[in-house]
Amino acid sequence: MNLQSIPVAEKAGAAASRPIIRVEAVEKAFGAFRALKGVSLDVYPGEVHALLGDNGAGKSTLIRILSGFFRQTAGRLLVDGREAHFRSPRDATEAGVGTVYQDLALNPLLTVSRNFFMGRELTVGPEFLGILDMEQMDRIALAEMRKIGANLTDPRQKVGTMSGGQRQTLAIARAIYFGAKVLILDEPTSALGQKQQLEVLKTIMRVRARGDIAIIFITHNEIHSKLVADRFTFLSLGEVIGSGTREDLEGEDIRRLMAGGAEINDLARELQAAALGA
Ligand SMILES: Nc1ncnc2c1ncn2[C@@H]1O[C@H](COP(=O)(O)OP(=O)(O)O)[C@@H](O)[C@H]1O
Ligand SMILES: [Mg+2]
Repeated sequence: MNLQSIPVAEKAGAAASRPIIRVEAVEKAFGAFRALKGVSLDVYPGEVHALLGDNGAGKSTLIRILSGFFRQTAGRLLVDGREAHFRSPRDATEAGVGTVYQDLALNPLLTVSRNFFMGRELTVGPEFLGILDMEQMDRIALAEMRKIGANLTDPRQKVGTMSGGQRQTLAIARAIYFGAKVLILDEPTSALGQKQQLEVLKTIMRVRARGDIAIIFITHNEIHSKLVADRFTFLSLGEVIGSGTREDLEGEDIRRLMAGGAEINDLARELQAAALGA
């Protein structure tokens, strides 16, 4: 696939020059095991940054550091130019880092709008009465989801009846509405069928088109990353083995880096050896 041939919407405004997230030589040790060995990367507003790598590469560990679940063993994390010291996931959320996990943190038995506002419900009348402003919540949830593409008509629909793609869109719209400037999507397409995967990729492109939000897209799907990403970082066994913009990387580079940096010829030789019973 030719990367240049994929039309990508123009960014709103000039390309941002300052990263919203800067990861500087971050290390993470679990006992004697080093899961991250000095990882650096920059994430810019209005861009989709694909974080790629095989199982065990350290993607989830890095994401847990960015979202306040783990503290790094060494290295720095800067958010909008300032060093961040997240002590909890709440700190990260408050700093504008919104993470959409694979389980999406949705309750299938509740409605779309109740899920959208879960824990942050709007009320009407005196606060102590705690009367929910359902109309307002319905209106906002529906509008926010439609902005990024969910074809939804009933905000009182139970989440359990929604498609996988619509659920992703709900989780993403919710994170943005509550202030995410950086959106971390952990393998958002991996548990979905092909049609639903496309819906999620479209949602990513609509968020990107806003121009102000940075998206970190974790995937091990090379094709998905090529379809939507502006920038790529490849992790292997806790190290960055390659990075660059889509202009920097030719298709073959991406394929080679996806294979953990091994040359395709090396892989072919190994397969050949296996076929011969080695
Ligand atoms: N809490 C933990 N304790 C010990 N080892 C861990 C822990 N979390 C992850 N690891 C190890 O760190 C390495 C990277 O894991 P992970 O970040 O989950 O990789 P990825 O998400 O790229 O598959 C793996 O070898 C994994 O076993
Ligand atoms: Mg992982």
